[in-house]
Amino acid sequence: MTASKKITLTRPDDWHLHVRDGEILSSVLEDTAKRFSRAIIMPNLADPVTNTEKAEQYRERIINALPNDYKLTFEPLMTLYLTNRTSTAEIRKAWDSGFIHAVKWYPAGATTNSDKGVSDIVACYDVLEVMAEIGMPLLVHGEVTDPTVDVFDREKTFIDQFLSGIIKNFPTLKVVFEHITTEHAVQFVKDAPAYVGATITAHHMLLNRNALFTGGIRPHHYCLPVLKRENHRKALIEAATSGNKKFFLGTDSAPHSQKAKENACGCAGIYSSHGGIEFYAEIFDKAGALDKLEAFASFHGPDFYGLPRNRDKITLSRKQSPIPETVPFGNESCVPLRAGGTLEWVID
Ligand code: DOR
Ligand code: ZN
Repeated sequence: MTASKKITLTRPDDWHLHVRDGEILSSVLEDTAKRFSRAIIMPNLADPVTNTEKAEQYRERIINALPNDYKLTFEPLMTLYLTNRTSTAEIRKAWDSGFIHAVKWYPAGATTNSDKGVSDIVACYDVLEVMAEIGMPLLVHGEVTDPTVDVFDREKTFIDQFLSGIIKNFPTLKVVFEHITTEHAVQFVKDAPAYVGATITAHHMLLNRNALFTGGIRPHHYCLPVLKRENHRKALIEAATSGNKKFFLGTDSAPHSQKAKENACGCAGIYSSHGGIEFYAEIFDKAGALDKLEAFASFHGPDFYGLPRNRDKITLSRKQSPIPETVPFGNESCVPLRAGGTLEWVID
C-alpha cells in the first residue's frame, strides 16, 4: 500500500478537445469544465467550422450547453477549419474576433470529418503568411493520407514530406504538432525553432499498439494517429515529463457513440475527458515526475498561445475511483477510456 499523495496545481487547460455538437454537447462538456478552465475546441463538425460566423454560433451552442455552474468559469477557445479556399480576409476577421485562437489543418481524408480539409497546402500559403504575420497558431493533424504509406508510418512521413518544409518556409509561424505519437515527432519538435510546440494525449502515453489487439480487436482503443510501439510511448512520456516548454497537454478526447465504435468500420477516437487531468497525474506519478505536471498541464500551453495562465488551483489525490462502463452520449452511450476500470487519481 503506497502512501496517500496529493498535488495542487494551477488549474489546467485542454489544448486539444472534441465536444461535437447538438445534444452531445451537454453529455460531454461537464467532464471538461470540471477540470479545465479553457479548451481548444476542434472544428471538425459534420459541417466544419470554416468561418468566423460559424465559430461564433458554435461557441454560443457550447456556452448554452454548459451546466450553469460552469458558464462563467469555462472558456471555449475556438478554432477555424482550414480549407483550400480559406481567404486571408477570413483569417484576419477570425483573429480580430478575439474568440478564435487558431486554425486547424486537417489533410483531406486524414481523420473524422476531414474530407473538406486541405488537399493542397501550397494553395494555403497566402493564409499561412498572414497567420505568421499576426501570430495566429496553425494546429496540425500530422499524418499523410497516401494509402500506400503504412498507417504506422504516416506521422513520420508527414514530417519529412510536409512539416519540415512548412517550418522552413514560414519560420515565424506558430505551429502546434497535435497529438504526437512517435519518437520522430518528439525529436523533430525538440530540434525545431521555439515557434513549434506539440500536444501529447494521455492515451498515447498509457497505451501502445498491443492495446488494439489484446485478446481480440479493441475498437475503443482505435484513434488517429493510431497507437504506436512501446519505444514511441516511452519517448512521449519522456518528452512530457522533461519540463521542455514545447510540450503541453491536449487530451484529444474524441467521443463517438458505442455503436459507431463497435462497428465493422469503427470510428477513430477515444473519450478521455472523464479523467482529463487524472490520467496525466497517473502517468507523471509513475514516471516519478509529478513535480513537472503543473508546467505541462497549466503553463506551457497558455505561454505558447500568448494567453494568461489561470489563477485558481485544483488539488488531486492519489486514490482509486471507479470508471463506469459507459457514459451518456445524447440518446446513446459512449465507452470511456478504461471503462469498468479505475482512475488512480481523483480531484478533491
Ligand atoms: O482519433 C481521432 N478522433 N483522431 C482525430 O484526429 C479526430 C478525432 C475525432 O474527431 O473523432
Ligand atoms: Zn483531435
